[in-house]
Amino acid sequence: MPELAYADVAAGRVTEAQRARIKRRGCVVIRGLYDPKQVAEWNAEILNYIDANHYLERSKEKAGIDKYFSGLASGAPQIYGLYWSRPQMMARQGEPQAVTRAFLNRLWTFEKGGVQYFDPDRQANYADRIRRRQPGDTTLGLSPHSDGGSVERWCEPTFRSMYHEVLQGDPFKFDPYDAAGRTQTREIPSPAVCSAFRTFQGWTALSKQGPGDGTLKLVPISQTMPWMLLRALQADVPEGDLCGAKPGRALGASNEWHADLLGALVSIPEVQPGDTVWWHSDVIHAVEDRHNGNGYSNVIYISSAPWCDKNAAFLARQAPAFLEGRSSPDFAPEDYEVDFVGRARSEDLSPLGQMQMGLRPWA
Ligand SMILES: [Fe+2]
Repeated sequence: MPELAYADVAAGRVTEAQRARIKRRGCVVIRGLYDPKQVAEWNAEILNYIDANHYLERSKEKAGIDKYFSGLASGAPQIYGLYWSRPQMMARQGEPQAVTRAFLNRLWTFEKGGVQYFDPDRQANYADRIRRRQPGDTTLGLSPHSDGGSVERWCEPTFRSMYHEVLQGDPFKFDPYDAAGRTQTREIPSPAVCSAFRTFQGWTALSKQGPGDGTLKLVPISQTMPWMLLRALQADVPEGDLCGAKPGRALGASNEWHADLLGALVSIPEVQPGDTVWWHSDVIHAVEDRHNGNGYSNVIYISSAPWCDKNAAFLARQAPAFLEGRSSPDFAPEDYEVDFVGRARSEDLSPLGQMQMGLRPWA
């Protein structure tokens, strides 16, 4: 798994060879975006936000609203349906996040023939949740999957057009970093299926975590989607079955159909508070079933969603949810935070943060 220091990203010291390797692997660990002391404060504030607002008691009452991961063997992960705590907003709008995401966006072909598919240097802040996983936890993981569409990838015209080389017999011509078509896809609406365009999914570590700590695993190959698409069309897969893909669910990779690919599933290296992990939006990922470590493994999910029409349209739906404290419109409408004390408000955001939320026109 490629690794970079944030200081090198910020100073423009990443070589062509490093870029090429990140593109091939479809993932990268970028270290040191935030000062570990700052991150420790955020981590404590999130814990206080959860406790002071009685999140756990309330979540038991609302259990079952989120069905997205119900098809995956490991069941629901240790994920909190919280989007708008102050630390989440501060981490999203921080300058190092903007710089890092611009770097990642620029690994893509975002402009062709005079058409700009997205603006790599302007970010849309896509609100996602928090993972807080306690040591010793053995029940909560996530089976290997890819987000952003399941059966759509074969059946929906906008996805078919995105994958046209694969579906028309020339899979090696498919470029996972070509943004053409990516910002036009139409996902089957469903709680927790991402309807924004993300160049990379990612998270920012709130605590130290590494292999065995109940954290992320990846298949570090950017060209897996052609294989997944064609695998489902092989003769051994029953007619009408796409290797178990189900509408409105994550696209799972299973031992039954995808064992060759899953041989490449590896844990991320150890990361420290303030480090980030990124993976291309097609890349297959999982969360370890067992947390055998000693400390909480906590993250804020912050992905790279660049400014484009698709994401601007999403922000128009997301902004009122933020202002009212409702769940992000891409997730189950649990709306925990409507009356939470300590929730971030528009006036807590920097001008950049407000622009990234669609609350202020770009300067
Ligand atoms: Fe995922």
